[in-house]
Amino acid sequence: MRIDVLTIFPDLFTGFLATSIPANAIESGALSCHVHDIRIHAANRHRKVDDRPFGGGPGMVMMCQPIFDAVKAAESVTSQSTDGCPATNIVRVLLSPQGERLTQPRVEWLAQQPHLLLLCGHYEGIDERVIEELNPLEISLGDYVLSGGELGAMVLIDAVARLQAGVLGHEDSAAEDSFSVRSSEGAPLLDCPHYTRPREWNGREVPEVLLSGDHQAVARWRDAQRIERTQTRRPDLLQDCLLKDTQCDRSILTHPRPLLTAKQNIAAEHVATPTRTPEASFKANDLHG
Ligand SMILES: C[S@@+](CC[C@H](N)C(=O)[O-])C[C@H]1O[C@@H](n2cnc3c(N)ncnc32)[C@H](O)[C@@H]1O
Repeated sequence: MRIDVLTIFPDLFTGFLATSIPANAIESGALSCHVHDIRIHAANRHRKVDDRPFGGGPGMVMMCQPIFDAVKAAESVTSQSTDGCPATNIVRVLLSPQGERLTQPRVEWLAQQPHLLLLCGHYEGIDERVIEELNPLEISLGDYVLSGGELGAMVLIDAVARLQAGVLGHEDSAAEDSFSVRSSEGAPLLDCPHYTRPREWNGREVPEVLLSGDHQAVARWRDAQRIERTQTRRPDLLQDCLLKDTQCDRSILTHPRPLLTAKQNIAAEHVATPTRTPEASFKANDLHG
């Protein structure tokens, strides 16, 4: 998988891409990540990428031209390179507080795309006309405002990198993480609690069953914990299910689904369809292969 990032702060990505899971994914060849400085494409002497808003008001707005040229340059390089994908396969993503809120099903869908182009806004945002022209999938980290899209791009890179085949070790398998494990009704469940040595810490004991050596009992306890935690902490995840009947889907847990085929396991109703994304369209049917 290839990810191109367009930003006015490329240095922010240096440490991030050299550390932990993103670094593993890059080193293993599962991911290639290319960070581009939008300023290089500013058609003015001072490399200015922003200007005052028409109609007045506070802040600055990122101009159309540098962003459009940066996108075209990144896409033309990759469509010509031997390891690149044709430009038509690129999913353009704009990080935006006004976008679709990022969820695990969307992450799983993005992780299956061969090529993402992540566009990071700044200041008051980006001139609306270039957004209309590029027609990206708009993704939000949540209902709060950040200063720029870079943190969102990093979140997205990390989330898709850990789903690439071979990137996580077996013991870190993503298949048993929160939102990947599903109830028998298909609702995403939170993960169970985890413990490590020592057996007693600060007067607190590890649950006895985890020390029993009885693998089936441990699995049953973990399933029950997943369901109880989801019921108490995130009942909204179970909204379509009868809480009293909720069970963990053992077929998913005992045969963790292969990474990157998650689309076969995702219920369509858990995913919203973006409105402005013909080329990045994410139809409910896509999830059923
Ligand atoms: C200060 S914000 C602009 C906010 C914009 N004026 C609004 O209220 O919708 C600057 C940039 O940060 C990024 N950003 C801010 N909050 C975000 C969020 N919740 N999710 C994703 N990106 C966000 C976007 O790229 C945005 O263009």
